[in-house]
Amino acid sequence: MKTSRRAFVGATAVTAAHIWIPKGVKGYTAGEIVPVTPQRAGISKWDLDTPALCVDLDKMERNIAKMQRTCNANKIAVRPHAKTHKCAAIAKMQMAAGAIGICTAKLSEAEALLAEGVDKILMTTSNLPPAKIRRAMELKKRYPGFIQAVDWDQNARDLQDAAKTAGVVADVVIDVAVGTRSGIPPGEDAINLARLVDKQPNLKLRGMLSYDGGAQHINTFAARKERTLKNIEENARTYEKMKAGGLNTEIFSGGGTGTYNIYHLVPGFTDVQAGSYIFMDMQYVAIGNVDGQPVYDDFEPSLTVLATVVNNRFSGRLTTDAGAKALTINVPHAGVIGEPGMDYNAGSDEFGSITFKEARKEWKMGEKMELIVPHCDPAVNLYDYIYGIRNDRVESVLSVTARGHSQ
Ligand SMILES: Cc1ncc(COP(=O)(O)O)c(C=O)c1O
Repeated sequence: MKTSRRAFVGATAVTAAHIWIPKGVKGYTAGEIVPVTPQRAGISKWDLDTPALCVDLDKMERNIAKMQRTCNANKIAVRPHAKTHKCAAIAKMQMAAGAIGICTAKLSEAEALLAEGVDKILMTTSNLPPAKIRRAMELKKRYPGFIQAVDWDQNARDLQDAAKTAGVVADVVIDVAVGTRSGIPPGEDAINLARLVDKQPNLKLRGMLSYDGGAQHINTFAARKERTLKNIEENARTYEKMKAGGLNTEIFSGGGTGTYNIYHLVPGFTDVQAGSYIFMDMQYVAIGNVDGQPVYDDFEPSLTVLATVVNNRFSGRLTTDAGAKALTINVPHAGVIGEPGMDYNAGSDEFGSITFKEARKEWKMGEKMELIVPHCDPAVNLYDYIYGIRNDRVESVLSVTARGHSQ
């Protein structure tokens, strides 16, 4: 039987075995419960002030384990992307589960996570401005496990000059484009860049990246698989030529949550860089699973925003305190857990507007509801903390280490 996205979200809470709502709901802020002391541990999530970003630890841990288990079985490594969670604590959980390293999108993310002890970081974007290149070299000096991307010959020369000045040998991967977003085109251009890097005395070529952003959300697994394998063909040929030419190809990395179980079919591919799988979101829920079902249920939606009903006085409508500043982008709309008939519009800054024909219960003023976010990465970037929840109680407060580190 086919399940719609809304029905899936609606069923999430209804089937949960451990819903526990206390009688006296208080409204703690993160500042009041950090650190979680033995006395404070065990506060109900329903007592949190809202909007509050929460992660169900059991679900997140299952997601981390499933990714690792599947990739182990497929004989491909996991190098999760920290652009999703920006949390040193979560990166360390992923490493403890078997990840070979962590990716970052930004230099400032890498700086923040390395400083917190995440010691193997591959930055998947290149550093262009001279000041950034200098910072990247300083980082390499302090943290030997730092690898950076390059996708332009002048940038390779600039990296070489800065590495020489800093007295380091910098580890570099060639970012080879799949589609048009970033990266050098596959083929001769990419191979020449790899040769150029290889010749630089202060650069060490480690291999190549190929991330296909356009493939992750293709609807139906069959279509996603077909497009992914087609799109990567030229990159795979480039990889083979690099290898045949004696260049170091120890890294051939890419892939995301929608394609993590496809890239092991590409000869030479070493690791998948999936990010969203730990949290999931409404965008990913909709892409379809390997069994042909419309809901992508490989991973469980673990990330939620708690919101409070602040207006219930209009028929078929509710207003909450979680708008664009709590959820960021609004497409597709957030999912209201336990209420498949509700449409949640976070288009206005501070308020969420819900419309419905039928609700499963009567929602009272001040009552709290739980939402699955439209897109997890930018939502996390709005919060200083993620409350770690187990069996509906606060077990930990995770600092979003690189929150707002967008440079
Ligand atoms: C270079 C790169 N790798 C990996 C990812 C992770 O993708 P996902 O969150 O879809 O798993 C992203 C996400 O945008 C990315 O830009």
